[in-house]
Amino acid sequence: MKDRIIDANMKEEDNFDLSIRPSTLAEYIGQKEIKENLQIFIKAALMRSEPLDHVLLYGPPGLGKTTLAHIIANELGTNIKTASGPAIEKTGDLAAILSTLEPGDVLFIDEIHRMPKFIEEVLYPAMEDFEIDLILGTEGKSRNIKIDLPPFTLVGATTRAGDISSPLRDRFGIISKLEYYKEEELEGIIKRTSRVLDMPIEDDAAKELSKRCRKTPRIANRLFKRVRDFALVAGESCITHELTMDSLKRLKVDKYGLDNIDIEYLTSLIEKFNGGPVGVETIATSIGEEVSTIEDVVEPYLLQEGFIKRTPRGRVATEKAYKHLKISFNDTLF
Ligand SMILES: Nc1ncnc2c1ncn2[C@@H]1O[C@H](COP(=O)(O)OP(=O)(O)OP(=O)(O)O)[C@@H](O)[C@H]1O
Ligand SMILES: [Mg+2]
Repeated sequence: MKDRIIDANMKEEDNFDLSIRPSTLAEYIGQKEIKENLQIFIKAALMRSEPLDHVLLYGPPGLGKTTLAHIIANELGTNIKTASGPAIEKTGDLAAILSTLEPGDVLFIDEIHRMPKFIEEVLYPAMEDFEIDLILGTEGKSRNIKIDLPPFTLVGATTRAGDISSPLRDRFGIISKLEYYKEEELEGIIKRTSRVLDMPIEDDAAKELSKRCRKTPRIANRLFKRVRDFALVAGESCITHELTMDSLKRLKVDKYGLDNIDIEYLTSLIEKFNGGPVGVETIATSIGEEVSTIEDVVEPYLLQEGFIKRTPRGRVATEKAYKHLKISFNDTLF
C-alpha cells in the first residue's frame, strides 16, 4: 500500500503514541452509547466478582478498538494479554496464550476475523466453559486432553464484522459497533492531544483538523503531529489557523480529508468507468491498489460521506463526487 498521511491503519510511528491514548472510559471521547453500556456491564461484573462477558468490537480502522480493549482491562483492574488473529497459526499457539491467563484477565485478539477456522473451534469451549480440548500426538497414538482455564474475558476486534462466522459471533455477550466520530468529538480529541503533548493549538485550527481527519481519531492525531512539526520548524510556539491551512495544503489533504488515493479512486471510477457501476477488483487494478485496502480503508469513508454508493452491480459515483472533482454530472449520461 502506498504511504498516506490520512491512512487510518496503524503505522510504526503510532506506537510512540501510547502517551496520547486515553486509559479510562472517562477520558475516552465520543462513542457515547458503547461507553455507557460498558460502564454498566463492567460495574455489574465487578459487583458480582465475575469476569465481564466477552466483547466484540468492530468498525473501520483507527476508531479506537484497541484503545477500548485496554480501557476495559484497566477499568476491570485486570491484566490484558494481546494476540492477533493472523499470528495464531496452530492450536498450540492459542493454547499457549490461554495458559498464561489469570482469573479475570482480558484476552485481546485483534483482527479476530483472520483466525483460521480450526483455531476458532478451539476457542468455542474456551469462551463458553473456560476449558480447551487438545489432541496430542499423531494419528493412531493420539489422545484428547482437557485443560481447565480460569474465567477470563475475550475482547475481539475486527474491521470486518461480516467475515466473522456466526458461531463465533454468537459467543460474544456484548457486540459493539464503533461509529465515525463527530467533528466536536474530534476537536476534543485534538485538544486533548495538544495538552498531553504540550503544544497549544488555536480553536479554529483544531476545528479545521477535525474536519479533515476522516472522522477518525488516529488520523486526527497524526495530522496534529505533522502540523506540530511545521510549527516547530517555523519557530511557532502555538499551532495557528494559518499554519494549519498551510500545512494541510503541503500534506495534500483536501477539505473533505480526501487524499491522492481517494481522488485517484474517484477519478478512475468517473473517467475510466463512466461513474460505474463497476466491480471493486476492476477499480483496484486500475489504480494499482489491493482490493483489501480499497475495501477496508478507502471505501468506508467515501461511502459514509456519500461520494460513492454500493450497488449489486458494483460501485457508483454520486453527484457529490462529480462536483468535488469538478466534472459535470450529466457528461457521462450521454
Ligand atoms: N475515543 C477516543 N478518544 C481519544 N483518543 C482516541 C479515541 N479513540 C482512539 N483514539 C486515539 O486514536 C488512536 C487509534 O486508536 P486505536 O489504535 O485504538 O484504533 P483501532 O480501532 O484499534 O484501529 P485498528 O483497526 O487499526 O486496530 C489511538 O492511539 C488513540 O490515541
Ligand atoms: Mg487496533
